[in-house]
Amino acid sequence: MNYKKIIAEKINEKTNMGIENIEKLLEIPPKPEMGDYAFPCFQLAKTMRKAPNLISQELKESISKDYLEKVESMGGYLNFFIDKNSYTKHVLEMALSQNEKYGSSDIGSGKNVVVEYSSPNIAKPFHVGHLYSTAVGNALYKMMKSQGYNTIGVNHLGDWGTQFGKLIVAYKRWVDEEALEKEPINELLRIYVKFHDEAEKDPSLEDLARMHFKNLEDGCKEETELWQRMKDLSLKEFNKIYDMLNIKFDSLAGESFYSDKMDAVVDEIEIKGLLTESNGALVVNLDEYNIPPCIIKKSDGATIYATRDLAAAIYRKNTYDFYKNIYVVGSPQALHFKQIFTTLKLMGHDWANDCVHVGFGLVKFADKKLSTRKGDVIFLEDLLNEAVSRTLELIEQKNTNLENKEDVAKKVGIGAVVFAYLKNNRERDIMFSFDDMLNFDGETGPYVQYTYARGKSILRKAEGFKSQADFSKLNSTEEFELVKLIAAFNEAILSAISKYEPSMLTRYIIDVAKAFNKFYNQYSIISCEDEGLKAARLKLVEATTIVLKNGLSLLGIDVVEKM
Ligand code: ARG
Repeated sequence: MNYKKIIAEKINEKTNMGIENIEKLLEIPPKPEMGDYAFPCFQLAKTMRKAPNLISQELKESISKDYLEKVESMGGYLNFFIDKNSYTKHVLEMALSQNEKYGSSDIGSGKNVVVEYSSPNIAKPFHVGHLYSTAVGNALYKMMKSQGYNTIGVNHLGDWGTQFGKLIVAYKRWVDEEALEKEPINELLRIYVKFHDEAEKDPSLEDLARMHFKNLEDGCKEETELWQRMKDLSLKEFNKIYDMLNIKFDSLAGESFYSDKMDAVVDEIEIKGLLTESNGALVVNLDEYNIPPCIIKKSDGATIYATRDLAAAIYRKNTYDFYKNIYVVGSPQALHFKQIFTTLKLMGHDWANDCVHVGFGLVKFADKKLSTRKGDVIFLEDLLNEAVSRTLELIEQKNTNLENKEDVAKKVGIGAVVFAYLKNNRERDIMFSFDDMLNFDGETGPYVQYTYARGKSILRKAEGFKSQADFSKLNSTEEFELVKLIAAFNEAILSAISKYEPSMLTRYIIDVAKAFNKFYNQYSIISCEDEGLKAARLKLVEATTIVLKNGLSLLGIDVVEKM
């Protein structure tokens, strides 16, 4: 907990002004002799109808003095002098005793939160945008879980829609079974592209595709089996990626899951008088909100993506009674979600206000080599493998006799990719380059993981050393800056959650790593001769490693003990 908050709490105990309000009023005095924080009593003077200097004198007497060296009343101001010694002791001991729990809280307890993320499409490549959704969603999921929310991670698979009619036609005509076994997504993509080429010459293929999709919707055996096979093969591929990233979902209810739940939605929309016809299609008119209509049924009677999203939202509300229903989906779909949420509101579902679209920008690659294999899609497996092999090279240059290099390279290489995504302010586009994201001296995953390993190596060297820590000696600016950052961990998580912006946590972690390296480069730890100071510094190192490990873990990144 940061000490601005500690002071705000003390003032709040006596004034009931609200902690946030007080935090806004707290000032940093112009001179250090005037203390670390000053509280102006002028606003209180109005409500209490008393002179500010009198209020300040009264508060000075009544306020609790823990973690304070002293409090002084100066005119209308109350000046606080922090007792750095007891504050440092408190922060470090809390981090050490809570250990893997440090940073967490239970403010979300009793609240269900659905986090939908990843959501790739069956029979299509898992692309860099899906990885963006996967990384951001997983981080939000873990951060919220750490604050006591009951989180439900949903992978809303794209496994339904007219494209499956086309895939079935293509499958029956052109599939190469051997290729399908070996590289399923490539083969499915190939026949899908072929379908479109052939359909240009022979438009009757489109009718055939519509028929097959209709049969699929009606549950016909042949179509269902083919669809299931494509889904199984695709999931096998996707699971390889999820395994590499160590990601699990609580639900795989994708679009097909709602295929039998849409009639009810269409009926509800109709009963509520919202369904209108437009060019043969059935839509919900949203002119009033200045957005295009939400299409419910196409002119051929088929339901679409939007209908399934309406059904999914209603299902989630009924099943999970969510406090928030979060969709981590690229910003190009912002309009789609606006239409869905607005339609839900028109249907009288006030909980539509609890649905949140968490968008993100585009991903571009500076490394040309990766940008093509088939068409212009970047295959994620290639990307991750490349990151791992490049990391292995770097590690071999740095530390040739490291044990289990492969495992380290995996964690650091994949961690580097995830970190690069999560460092980005999500609304902005990302330009990726391996050189940047693997730079051990930059603001990167490897830099933070290396800092962690360095801290652990110090702790290993000091194993067996026992002495009473003297926190009063931990008084350099560098040390105190690090203590303050360690104290701010929980707040960093909470701010990141409140803005659905994991990059706020990522940047905080970078700050911790930088502050640690400043401290490490300037002061001796193992060879420090003053035992009390050495013991205190070791605690500072240990608390730092706890924050780095827990912080990275919330981002979905594993640490390594040696590097
Ligand atoms: N499968 C979609 C795609 O790849 C993303 C799904 C987003 N989620 C949703 N509920 N619409 O673009």
